[in-house]
Amino acid sequence: MDTPLIDPFDRAIRYLRVSVTDRCDFRCVYCMSENMTFLPKKDLLTLEELDRLSSAFVRLGVEKLRITGGEPLVRRDILTYFRAMSRHLETGALKELTLTTNGSQLEKYAVDLAACGVRRINVSLDTLDEAKFAQITRWGRLPQVLRGIDAAQAAGLRVKINTVALKGFNEDELFGLVDWCASRDMDLTFIEVMPMGDIGNEDRLGQYWSLRDLRATLAERQTLTDLAERSGGPARYVRVDQTGQKIGFITPLSHNFCESCNRVRITCTGEIYTCLGQEGHSDLRAPLRASPDDALLETAIRAAIGLKPKGHDFDYSRQAVDGQVSRHMSHTGG
Ligand code: GTP
Ligand code: 5AD
Ligand code: SF4
Repeated sequence: MDTPLIDPFDRAIRYLRVSVTDRCDFRCVYCMSENMTFLPKKDLLTLEELDRLSSAFVRLGVEKLRITGGEPLVRRDILTYFRAMSRHLETGALKELTLTTNGSQLEKYAVDLAACGVRRINVSLDTLDEAKFAQITRWGRLPQVLRGIDAAQAAGLRVKINTVALKGFNEDELFGLVDWCASRDMDLTFIEVMPMGDIGNEDRLGQYWSLRDLRATLAERQTLTDLAERSGGPARYVRVDQTGQKIGFITPLSHNFCESCNRVRITCTGEIYTCLGQEGHSDLRAPLRASPDDALLETAIRAAIGLKPKGHDFDYSRQAVDGQVSRHMSHTGG
């Protein structure tokens, strides 16, 4: 392997998130506006280019590859890319190949994903109430996602549910979601809502439910023990002593975790974003296309990582939204 990727704050980059499309079959209200303009398909990297780009990162020490979107499973022929990436699992260079999905296409793809070496997936789900699900996703239908989760578990995939904590929306479902995940042997991670992209009339501050408060509410009912265990992402986990269930907290607002950041993201057009919460990015498509060997590309990757900022500036503490970034979450897949 070449010299690994180390950023200016001495953080080793071992985790790459690849957004394979900016499109999605849902329109979650905290993520997208109803009328999104998507990129013309001709601007997207081809699956072969995504392979070359991702493989360059693996050569440079990336051990965890998470495929995101938009919704990654709406990209045409996406299994070709998963199959290509599975060769890095076979050589042992990659320790984990995984994805974050809204679950809508899992019924169709779960078996094939498992065959590509995917072992564990994260499924975004904010409510178990059909009407509220339709409201928050605008275009999504809960039964389809539940069938997708069934299919994933039947295919042997471990499922972790990602729930964005939303004040006044899913506060009353806290215990319902926790119990549902326990009954199905699924882990659960809560996420604080981040100020990303213009989402129309939604009010970010009003939506914000601090995970400190959420955790305190949980602790009134159950005993929580902090775990040292990590999944390679920003979540910090607790075990519920009564059930053995694992619950994760992703707390960009109430507790900044950037000092241990190990990740960068590439978009479906070949931009690299070295921080989710900053505007700065660099282009990797031009060096990728400029030459069939990867020397220029590797130089561009190292230069971009040399610019990785210390962290995000999201902040709600002054009763105002600070540190907002202009792009939507779907641009970089979270
Ligand atoms: P695991 O492999 O299960 O640890 O997953 P993960 O948390 O790395 O990935 P996932 O796609 O499930 O991300 C969950 C949430 O964490 C998403 O909302 C991401 O936007 C958020 N997230 C991931 N990385 C960062 C980060 O560097 N900064 C911030 N602020 N949020 C992040
Ligand atoms: N803040 C926090 N999480 C968000 N997600 C999408 N938009 C936001 C936001 N503004 C979540 C999705 C999914 C993950 C990739 O990011 O629900 O679980
Ligand atoms: Fe699509 Fe995920 Fe954004 Fe919802 S959060 S609109 S499912 S990309």
